[in-house]
Amino acid sequence: MLLERCLELLAPALDRKDRATVYVDATLGLAGHAEAVLAAHPRTVLIGLDRDTEALAHARARLDRYADRIHLVHAVYDEFTEVLDRLGHPRVDGVLFDLGVSSLQLDAPDRGFAYAQDAPLDMRMDQSTGTTAEEVVNTYSHGELARVLRVYGEERFAGRIASAIIRERERTRMTSSARLAELVRDSIPAPARRTGGHPAKRTFQALRIEVNRELAALETALPAALDALSLGGRMVVLSYHSLEDRITKQALTARSRSTGPVDLPVELPGTGPTLRLLSRGAELAGEAEVEANPRAASVRLRAAERIEQDGRNGTETTTRRRAARERPGRVAEEVRTSDTGIADGFEVARREMPRSPGDGSGTTVQGEG
Ligand SMILES: C[S@@+](CC[C@H](N)C(=O)[O-])C[C@H]1O[C@@H](n2cnc3c(N)ncnc32)[C@H](O)[C@@H]1O
Repeated sequence: MLLERCLELLAPALDRKDRATVYVDATLGLAGHAEAVLAAHPRTVLIGLDRDTEALAHARARLDRYADRIHLVHAVYDEFTEVLDRLGHPRVDGVLFDLGVSSLQLDAPDRGFAYAQDAPLDMRMDQSTGTTAEEVVNTYSHGELARVLRVYGEERFAGRIASAIIRERERTRMTSSARLAELVRDSIPAPARRTGGHPAKRTFQALRIEVNRELAALETALPAALDALSLGGRMVVLSYHSLEDRITKQALTARSRSTGPVDLPVELPGTGPTLRLLSRGAELAGEAEVEANPRAASVRLRAAERIEQDGRNGTETTTRRRAARERPGRVAEEVRTSDTGIADGFEVARREMPRSPGDGSGTTVQGEG
């Protein structure tokens, strides 16, 4: 299960004999992960961030019994560094990003995230600020709309959908999620409607990403979180969209490689990796989990540990230069299938690889190419 896998990956960083530890849940949501971490680590302090005040209220109630070791903060995660400084915890030991929307947001009848129920076109995770989906569909040019749908929704019919939106809004202002869903369905040729889930899924996902500026926030937040990790600190990221996973992969791999000349037997000062990858590629949810929770079908898990740069021990240096990783889980081999619908931003062929035998906490494997 993904929750257990997150706990397993974070545990070595949060279990320190010599001191209490600090854990940041950058996407607190309904606090399922946070509660499990607090229960498993009685000396860990939680800093929980969410941009959604409703989610924070739920989380606060759920975590009531841990009130003396939690700080819940209404913030966008690109404010990571400022939040930690304000709380006086510039260094942390564990970080989790569980990206995207929560079930609370998806199921809310009035927030406009779901194509399956009619609601005002809002889609803001933080309803106190920012542009709504209604403003996006009623004000963006054809080119801007098509770009958003193509890039964030990987929608093949982005141009046709954008044209339909423009035609509709010339007639009347678009305000309803059900009307938008209908318009999208009618814009997609019938044969293509039969694959890739609900025809409006990709458009709704794209608008949500645009409205919440999700990718820009992630590009800022991941390096900030990695900078804040103490030595031995660990970060886990769960992505549900190929662009999120790409940003995560780039942030992690950039720091897991030497920047020194490849043919030198030793690391030059300041060129060694500062991260060790803990997952080989991206790990997928197992079949049983996907059956129980269909949203898990698109998840990609990546994790890494902060290491000392320029370790002087020769063996260690060699290991670091290979960007060593421990204990691979189920691994995704990406094969984009362009002629099928893309559910949740991913369409991958699953080739599940067995885990390494044993606990494997010291197991290192050849670095990713
Ligand atoms: C998938 S849910 C997290 C679920 C959580 N792990 C749990 O166990 O309940 C994602 C949460 O992250 C929040 N979120 C998304 N983007 C955010 C951002 N840029 N800054 C802060 N919170 C964000 C959403 O409001 C949502 O509540």
